[in-house]
Amino acid sequence: MHVVVVGSGIAGLTAAIRASAVHDVTLVTKGALADGATARAQGGIAVALGADDSAALHEHDTHVAAAGSADARAVDVLCTDGPARVRDLLALGVPFDRSTDPTTLDRYCDDLARGREAAHTRWRVLHADGDATGAAVERTLVAALHRRHVTILERTCLTDLVVRDGQVVGIDVLDLLGEPRRLDADAVLIASGGAGHLYRETTNPLVATGDGTAAAWRAGAVLADLEFVQFHPTRLAVPDGGLVSEAVRGEGAVLRDATGHRFMTDVHPDAELAPRDVVARGIAAAMRTQRGLPVLLDATGLDPDFLVGRFPGLTRATRAAGFDWTREGVPVAPAAHYAMGGIATDTEGRTSLPGLLAVGEAACTGVHGANRLASNSLLEGLVFAVRAADALGAPRPGRLRLRGDATLVPTVVPAVVDRTGGATRPGPDAPVRQALQSVMTDHVGLLRDAAGLAGARAALSGLSAPGPMTVRDAEDRALLDLARLTALAAEARTESRGAHARTDHPDTDPTAPATNAWVTATPAPATAVPGPLRPSARQGALA
Ligand code: SIN
Repeated sequence: MHVVVVGSGIAGLTAAIRASAVHDVTLVTKGALADGATARAQGGIAVALGADDSAALHEHDTHVAAAGSADARAVDVLCTDGPARVRDLLALGVPFDRSTDPTTLDRYCDDLARGREAAHTRWRVLHADGDATGAAVERTLVAALHRRHVTILERTCLTDLVVRDGQVVGIDVLDLLGEPRRLDADAVLIASGGAGHLYRETTNPLVATGDGTAAAWRAGAVLADLEFVQFHPTRLAVPDGGLVSEAVRGEGAVLRDATGHRFMTDVHPDAELAPRDVVARGIAAAMRTQRGLPVLLDATGLDPDFLVGRFPGLTRATRAAGFDWTREGVPVAPAAHYAMGGIATDTEGRTSLPGLLAVGEAACTGVHGANRLASNSLLEGLVFAVRAADALGAPRPGRLRLRGDATLVPTVVPAVVDRTGGATRPGPDAPVRQALQSVMTDHVGLLRDAAGLAGARAALSGLSAPGPMTVRDAEDRALLDLARLTALAAEARTESRGAHARTDHPDTDPTAPATNAWVTATPAPATAVPGPLRPSARQGALA
């Protein structure tokens, strides 16, 4: 069969490589292959490999971080399949850091170095090049992809899924010249990542605009858990500042307010290594008491040679921002980081739409519940991509079962579809994106309440984006779709749970559903586009 994979992070690459052993595969990606979030991952990949560790312990930590809302089956699959998948990466040649330092033997598994991050009860985070794990993984997978017979279409932007008789049969794209094209497929696998650019401040790369998730919703696929948006506690609080890995706190760095007080010790017994949502809110609270000024990440207690050697990339980044972190604290603040929600799938990546699969951050297996455990995302991409690739072509076991007591809500938000071409096209500083980012950051961010969410809903419904004429327009449409859905989901969850914190409902309601699911009331009809895209002559399945 001809399989179109959308996205080229760890999930997309893994799926494409695995599927190419059996199927004809075309991989479509919006930027260059390595432009996605995977290449930016710093901390590493969590996996229970050590003799002191087990899948059961990893599962336990995943459930605790998830605020008890994770799907048990998905967590079991993640932690049980994880070691074999990481061994696959080792076999492919990912240069995970190694050491045999006899003074810290407990931190090594064989000679693989293991880091620690928040809410992990074991040292279990493998890393590469110190703090450049994602780049090493991406590089290795891209090299492996090039050794396979896969057609690669870079700078090709997904705009819509093509649905015929209830079955996904292809995708519409803007090709590298910006021309609309249609690519036919027997199956489409979305691995296009998250939508960090729903918010003003994000750790995500520019390409993270939720294109695949929004297209799936417009086509009629079920989305779930959209209200659970993870804010990473520590983005370097300078213009265009990037992620400062949680691994730095794992190694012993602490957080201080403007008075030098180590405030997280007042918030949680695990202080800086409490679950990510707790630390992010702790920082936000500290910032409120100091007129919004960022807090300081203080790594001066670490041996300077160790700090520089363990985190070479972050040493360069903090230096470039004017800080010597071996001697002074660096300013940090929370930023949008990861979508726990997305296209609802089973543990084989199957969605509610026949012919459509989804894996990685774009998917929602329920494995992260209401808050993802640090460094589980690379593992998720690996594990579920392999399972989805293996499920391609297998008979569907029936309708997608939504987990737990999920209710399926037909969404009444308008689908932002205007293909007339008559709409005004926003320029590069498109006001619609700035406007929706302001609304989302101010009212659908770390802390939420009914009045803010109702205001957000009204403000977002007043915005409109033109049809996908340019890649920027397509991204804005996706962001606006997802902003509206996220605001709606946050409004519907009248409790606090994990990353979803309502100041007007501060407690968790044990009777509330663990998951809420959304589907468009009016799936967008497939539209005609000019010509078929023929990536290569051998693609017989193409139109
Ligand atoms: C980090 O290195 O702090 C990010 C890791 C993650 O998002 O899991």
